[in-house]
Order: sequence, then C-alpha cells, then structure tokens
Amino acid sequence: MANPIIQVQGVHKEYGRGKKTVHALKNINIEIMPGEFVAVVGPSGCGKSTLLHVMAGLEQPTDGRVLLDGVDVTLISERDLPKVRAQKIGFVFQAFLLIEDLTAYENVEAVLWPIKDLSKAKQEDMTLDVLREVDMLERRDHFPRQMSGGEQQRVAIARALVNNPPILFCDEPTGNLDSKTGESILKIISRLNKEKGMTVVLVTHNEELTKYAKRVLRMKDGAIISDR
Ligand SMILES: Nc1ncnc2c1ncn2[C@@H]1O[C@H](COP(=O)(O)OP(=O)(O)OP(=O)(O)O)[C@@H](O)[C@H]1O
Ligand SMILES: [Mg+2]
Repeated sequence: MANPIIQVQGVHKEYGRGKKTVHALKNINIEIMPGEFVAVVGPSGCGKSTLLHVMAGLEQPTDGRVLLDGVDVTLISERDLPKVRAQKIGFVFQAFLLIEDLTAYENVEAVLWPIKDLSKAKQEDMTLDVLREVDMLERRDHFPRQMSGGEQQRVAIARALVNNPPILFCDEPTGNLDSKTGESILKIISRLNKEKGMTVVLVTHNEELTKYAKRVLRMKDGAIISDR
C-alpha cells in the first residue's frame, strides 16, 4: 500500500488577534493518496483557499502539521521552502498571475531559470512540451494582454506543470472563464491526472465541476463536513 502524498493533521488557522480573530480552519485532518483527484467545495469564506495555501506551504498553519510526501512543510526553513515547493507542487490561481512583460513561452520557462543544472536546450524542450500539452504552442510568442482569459489560464497551467510536480493545486482555475472554456481547462487537468497520475486538489464553487473528481470534500465555517 502506497503512503499518502498529502497529510493534513490537526490543522488550525487563525487570522488576526483578540476580538477580531477569524478562525479560518478548524481541526482539519485529511489524507490524500498519490493519483487522487480531490475537489474541495463550500460557500465563499468557508476556508477553501486558506486550506489550499496551507497544504501547499504558501501559508503556515497556526497549529497542526502538513506533510507532503512525508516531509513536514511546517518545519522546513524559509530558505529551503521555495525549493521544496518547486519540486513537489504546481499551483494554479483564479487570477492567472502571469507576468505581463513576458511572452507565454517566457512565463512558463521562467520557472526553470533558477534550476542551475538544467541546460538551455533542456529548458526549451520542457517548455515546448508543456505548451503543447495545453495547446498553446502556436501562441507561445504572445504576451498576456494579447491572449484570451482561457488562453492565459492554459499558460498558467503550463507554468504550474513545467517542472513535472507530483501534486497540482488549483484554486478556482475556471472562476474567471465562461463555462465552455472552464470545461476544457478541467479536461486538461483531468487528463494529466489520468495519464500522468498527478495528484490534483481542486477548489471550486461550481458543483458541475465536481464530476471530474473521484472524491469531494465539503467545507463549512472552516471545517470539513463531508468527505466522499
Ligand atoms: N489574510 C487574511 N486576514 C484575515 N482574514 C482572512 C485572511 N485571509 C482569509 N481570511 C478570512 O478567512 C476566512 C476564509 O477565507 P478563504 O479565502 O479561505 O475562503 P474561501 O473559502 O476561499 O472563499 P472564496 O470562495 O470566496 O474564495 C474568511 O472569513 C476570510 O475573510
Ligand atoms: Mg478562495
């Protein structure tokens, strides 16, 4: 039996202090196995993004631990965290967050620039491969302002995938897209899950999109209220 790739143990997250404290996550416990496709749903403000950020090591929990591949991300130093994240996770945000003065190609390749022992030719191969996967090869020299929302999101997905991370976190990746474009983005993510065995955790408020997931976590007021 394989080991879980993501373990969330007794996680609490509080924002602020005193009377204004927001208890965004309340005793969250989750185990996700390699290759799972998990959707996280729930009303606005229930803690979905916070959970995803804590899982990805982008935010520290107030209490509890998160293990990625058995490694406690809450114990990794600030200095080493970006490296660990780069090896293990890809993150797709609702706002695509592409760099405006880089082309599609450069936005994706930039992820590989800090990796010292990767030749320029290898970086180019990896970038072109992943742009092909999301069908953006022809638009590779376009800047974000020259692309549609769906195209920008496909580049953002390519960027999250270029270093072949075992885990892909997506926070409302289709929230800014029309439903047809959203479906096509989900189909790409679903194919990566099936063909490459990539573990996917997808936050969405769109019930329709949970059909792509094999497991759905429902949240309310910072807690998980159902898991099946
Ligand atoms: N930096 C912050 N400081 C204070 N409170 C915060 C902060 N970030 C989030 N919160 C609060 O934590 C709670 C959970 O927020 P979160 O962003 O996780 O919700 P969400 O489920 O992703 O909502 P949405 O569907 O609207 O994106 C909310 O009450 C929010 O106001
Ligand atoms: Mg959110």
